[in-house]
Formats: sequence, C-alpha cells, structure tokens
Amino acid sequence: MADRYAVIGNPVAHSKSPWIHAEFGRACGEDIEYQRIEAPLEGFAGAVDAFRAAGGKGLNVTLPFKEAAYQYCDRLSARARAAGVVNTLAFGSEVGGDNTDGIGLVRDLSSNLGLSLANKQVLLMGAGGAAQGVAGALLEKGIAGLVIANRTVARAQALAARFPGASASSYDALAGEDFDLVINATSAGLSGDAPTLPAGILRRGALAYDMVYGRDTPFLVAARAAGARASDGLGMLVEQAAESFFVWRGIRPDTRPVLAGLRAA
Ligand code: ATR
Repeated sequence: MADRYAVIGNPVAHSKSPWIHAEFGRACGEDIEYQRIEAPLEGFAGAVDAFRAAGGKGLNVTLPFKEAAYQYCDRLSARARAAGVVNTLAFGSEVGGDNTDGIGLVRDLSSNLGLSLANKQVLLMGAGGAAQGVAGALLEKGIAGLVIANRTVARAQALAARFPGASASSYDALAGEDFDLVINATSAGLSGDAPTLPAGILRRGALAYDMVYGRDTPFLVAARAAGARASDGLGMLVEQAAESFFVWRGIRPDTRPVLAGLRAA
C-alpha cells in the first residue's frame, strides 16, 4: 500500500502540493499518495491525530497552522527551531518537525533565478510566519545585511532581535537605502495591496521577489515599472516541496520539470 502524505491548511482547496508531490513520486519511483486536508481553524491537532491514526506518514503544513505545527512536535530540526514555525511533519515513533521554506526560498533564488546571495543587501518585508520562516536561511548565505521592515514596527523589532545580523525598520525609514534583493513576505498581495516603499527602493538591477504565487501582485507590478527584475514565489513552492520530499523519502527530486510544468499550466 502507498505511503500516505497530505497538505493541511485552511483554506487548502487550491493548493498545488498534491500535484507537485505526485510528480515527484512518479519521477523518483516512490509509491506515495498525497491528499489535501482542510482542518477547522480550531481543530489542527485533532485533524493531525486522525491522519496519524489512519497511518499517515507525513504532512505539509500551510496557513494558518505553522505555529500550531511547531507546538505539536516531539522533536524539531535546528532550522525549525530557529524559524519558530514548522511546515513539514514526519511521523514515526515520534513526531518530527522541520521547516523547508527557508531553504526553498534560497534554492529558488540561487538555482532557478541565478542570484548569488553572498554580499547582497537584503530587505525582507513582513514579520509574520512567512518572514519568520526564511530569515535564518538568508542570513546563513553570507549576505551583507538583512533589514526586516514591517507596517507594525514592533513585530519587525521582535523578529530581528531573534536573528543576529538582522536589523528592523519601518517602511518610511528605508528612504535612501539600497538593496540588491527585496523580498515581500507580507500577505498584502493576497488582498491586492502592497507595503508602501519609499521611491528608489525598487530599482533597475535589483531583484523583487514575492513569496505569493499565482497572481501578479501590486508589489511585482511596481517592481517591474521601476525597472527591477520581478519573480513570484512559485519556484519557492516547488523547492520547499522537494526538500520536504527529501525529509520523508531520502531522495531529492529534480525540481526543474515540475516548475516548468506549473509555469506552463
Ligand atoms: P503570515 O504567516 O502570512 O506572515 P501574518 O502572521 O498574519 O501571516 O503576517 C502577515 C504579514 O503581512 C505581517 O507582516 C503584516 O504586517 P503587520 O504585522 O503590520 O500586520 C503584513 N501585511 C498584511 N497586509 C498588509 C498590508 N496591506 N500592508 C503592509 N503589510 C501587510
């Protein structure tokens, strides 16, 4: 019988993870089954308990349950502990928690978009779970500096305090600064909005990256208008999935055909 996995979230109906993992399984010759679970907002632990009781081997966790997943674990990888949020659960005699979002973003930037992170000035916008999941992975790559900016500055300060090498800012106070890479880890794009950046932050030669995918967000539209290179988060989605697949199966799938398939769809 195939080993069972799923993505758990709310909402989860439009998740591309089942398709991505089915492609990985086929390409790697691994007999897996991967479904979607929409858990009630207050019912994360119960839904995970039920999936485990039915023999489930692992879960990808998406909004809004990444903090609940962190709490659910018996054991955490170093990168999950640093992030404080979990997107990958593996079930054996214990519940293992990992976070593959940070490495997923870094791999998309370096392997798919050809950006070497060493010595780059990086602006990370947002201070919620999405920003939290990637700050540590960026800092590990030898970047020159990481500024975390958020509408609610106190949240940026709290997040920056957890990561040596990061500093916090409001959006207004960024005026006059120069960044090679600007990452939108806010959820603003989901409601057709964008953080308000001072003029000049998005510039020719910079890469603007939105962790949201499947829509042209106002942030990406503004970046392109300013002459910056713009990328959505589809590559990060595929790369984080590949790393989760590796956590579960010990095999690293080739992400290129899967990303190309999604882009063509
Ligand atoms: P997630 O897990 O997706 O990060 P979250 O914890 O709710 O979700 O955080 C959402 C992030 O998007 C926050 O950084 C939020 O800013 P605040 O902390 O100031 O609320 C940011 N955000 C959401 N909508 C925004 C908007 N319209 N403009 C700017 N920032 C926005």
